[in-house]
Amino acid sequence: MDKLVIQGGTQLNGEIRIAGAKNSALPIIASTLLTSDVIEIGNLPHLFDITTMLELLGCMGVETVVGEKLNVQINSSSIRNFSAPYELVKTMRASILVLGPMLSRFGEAEVALPGGCAIGSRPVNLHLAAMKKMGAQIKMENGYIKANTRGKRLKGAHILMDIVTVTGTENVMMAATLAEGQTIIENAAREPEVVDLAHCLRAMGADISGEGTATITINGVERLHGGSYPIMPDRIETGTYLIAAAATRGRIKVKDTRPNILEAVLSKLEEAGAQIEIGPNWITLDMHGQRPKAVSLTTAPYPAFPTDMQAQFTALNAISEGSGSITETVFENRFMHVHEMNRMGADLRVEGNTVIFRGVAALKGAPVMATDLRASASLVIAGLVSESETTVDRIYHIDRGYECIEEKLQLLGAKIRRLPS
Ligand code: EPU
Repeated sequence: MDKLVIQGGTQLNGEIRIAGAKNSALPIIASTLLTSDVIEIGNLPHLFDITTMLELLGCMGVETVVGEKLNVQINSSSIRNFSAPYELVKTMRASILVLGPMLSRFGEAEVALPGGCAIGSRPVNLHLAAMKKMGAQIKMENGYIKANTRGKRLKGAHILMDIVTVTGTENVMMAATLAEGQTIIENAAREPEVVDLAHCLRAMGADISGEGTATITINGVERLHGGSYPIMPDRIETGTYLIAAAATRGRIKVKDTRPNILEAVLSKLEEAGAQIEIGPNWITLDMHGQRPKAVSLTTAPYPAFPTDMQAQFTALNAISEGSGSITETVFENRFMHVHEMNRMGADLRVEGNTVIFRGVAALKGAPVMATDLRASASLVIAGLVSESETTVDRIYHIDRGYECIEEKLQLLGAKIRRLPS
């Protein structure tokens, strides 16, 4: 297991390019199961989770050809089995995204039930309730979800989601594309990744409207066809580098990104004292050498402040001037990084689903351990602003969602290196 060693205290300055969005690429790869034609996906990020998803399709008999230009061609005409095994699902919960497409195209699917994870229990009850409402028979056997349509097409249905769920909305949207009749998803997730998936499905011939709003309507079609689709830029990677630069009082430009899907994060960064400028596909952030100001925030589904940026902003607040609170409303256990930051000298106190913080002038380096993807990124940011050396262990979490993180940070001037544990 590799670790990252960071010598803190250097301002980040310079330019980097943002990769394709992990959470867009995962459902889009799963959506290729909906057609027997070849689909070419572009702007694919180079990440462990993407490899896992391609491996999952591969073990079902799908042919994938990874190209040299961040692209992959996927051909699921030769699919042999409809099972997503536990060995892969346990390493990546997003494997549940194959359920909707498989059930819709083949009338059967078997997916290992994902367990809880470091950030919460994360049930998939809403995915399953929706599939049942669309006519699937679902049973649990030996830790597997076994779903079947008894030889019939799924039927369109009116689905009201009790909670806003991103992959739940995506799964139902994919299932509905080949269902008989109309499906309406109410209280749908409005995340840009859901919109990106809808655009891709439309390019494959799906009849979808309302993506990006709380009501998505899908009229089922007989078949979907092949095509090509580029993944949108990763808004969470973008935000992570901007926060890292703000924490180090630096100045950076992120390129190949989309400022219009980061409004909540950019406005909080401005509140922290950053000067932000945007263009069609770039963002610059300049702290003018100033210490960030404390910013209180509450996470919630898009367009509010994203839970996937909460840990990184906690690192920024840890060294800010002032005090405030951070409330997490999406996941019940997403504060594991707080205890590690306190070991580095931060003054953070968890009270229920809120962190009460008082900014300190500087953190001290320490060996810390990553517990999940975004927590790991937040510990890297804490390391960048600490007075001495920080070692972040178990960084396989980071490699699941950040492409070449140490190389990109080195480009910005950070003193960071990867060592085998
Ligand atoms: N929930 C249920 N039942 C369900 C589904 C969800 O109770 O059937 C609850 C969850 O337990 C959670 C809330 O609903 O409390 C929202 O969860 P959601 O389903 O939206 O999360 P997800 O789809 O499993 C995606 C991202 C996460 C991101 C969340 C929230 C992917 C592959 N993952 O997860 O990304 O945090 O939405 O925006 O899209 C990450 O990239 O680090 C990451 C964790």
